[in-house]
Amino acid sequence: LMAQLTVASPTNIAVIKYWGKRDTALNLPINSSVSLTINQADLRTVTTVTVSKDFEKDRLWLNGEEEDVSASKRVQKVFAMVRGRSRQWEGMKVHVVSVNNFPTAAGLASSAAGYAALAFALGKLYAVEESYPGELSTIARVGSGSACRSLAGGFVAWDMGSREDGADSCARQVAPAEHWPELQVLILVVSDKKKAVSSTAGMQTAVETSPLLAHRAAHVVPARMLAMEAAYLKKDFAAFAQLAMQDSNQFHATCLDTFPPIFYLNDVSRAVIQFVHAFNSACGETRMGYTFDAGPNAVLLVQQQHAVQALAAVLTHFPAEPGSEASYVNRPAMQQE
Ligand code: DP6
Repeated sequence: LMAQLTVASPTNIAVIKYWGKRDTALNLPINSSVSLTINQADLRTVTTVTVSKDFEKDRLWLNGEEEDVSASKRVQKVFAMVRGRSRQWEGMKVHVVSVNNFPTAAGLASSAAGYAALAFALGKLYAVEESYPGELSTIARVGSGSACRSLAGGFVAWDMGSREDGADSCARQVAPAEHWPELQVLILVVSDKKKAVSSTAGMQTAVETSPLLAHRAAHVVPARMLAMEAAYLKKDFAAFAQLAMQDSNQFHATCLDTFPPIFYLNDVSRAVIQFVHAFNSACGETRMGYTFDAGPNAVLLVQQQHAVQALAAVLTHFPAEPGSEASYVNRPAMQQE
């Protein structure tokens, strides 16, 4: 007896950032967050999950290399949550083969795509019925917080919730990508090196040492979440881009406020920030926004009608290295292959 499923899972880029946990075992955040789902052929994770009674043990291969599943608490927790919700396939073992074709741990949210794919595929194979909308996203969340936002397409909020067991800390689609198809992103890969401080470690040190982070979670993000969702629903680009830029900047300010400080942005990242502000002021309106995750790579936000102008300006200021490709990204949703 055997069953197999392959899913292509998108990554996501937060425009209101998740940074800080109130529960590190369950990945329960200190604030809500919201992201754009990015599903571009060369920016997703393809994961094949096979369930069989002939397998001796659970095994996992990431980009061709076998990982020690028994040593990964996150993967163990995801398996346990799925198995705890289904009697189907009882006693069977799982083999997972996951490949992503974008820089792992370079701040392009690759763990998000991976755990979303794992939760989605296992949920399907084990025939897990959601007992409330978003339950499957709580399984992805236990793998990696940001992963819960990759199960839906478009604009997806992760509501922080208040329960201790995390059942209400789940994802909710604000609107599908078709609501605002003109909104696109341009990704500038400044470095594909693995980041020096992982998100998991960085945000924990921040929770312990940064008073700015505590202030942000309690007094800044709640109003920003409401304003951000409203801007997306109204397709108000200027408001959307401005909130995204401010939130990215505040997140990186909390990194500087962490002790010892953490630096994810580099000189090129800061030059990109200055370039976007100069571009907008030359245009006399906000035509470009930016956001940076836990790494130096820039995600630029543009609308289709200004994309060519924006790309031309970017390439003039930051000539692409020979052989590199500027990736210009559209945003549909998760696909089952
Ligand atoms: C900067 O989801 O990778 O990308 O929950 O510890 O796995 P863990 O952290 P992770 O953190 C993502 C941080 C971020 C912001 C965001 O995606 O909201």
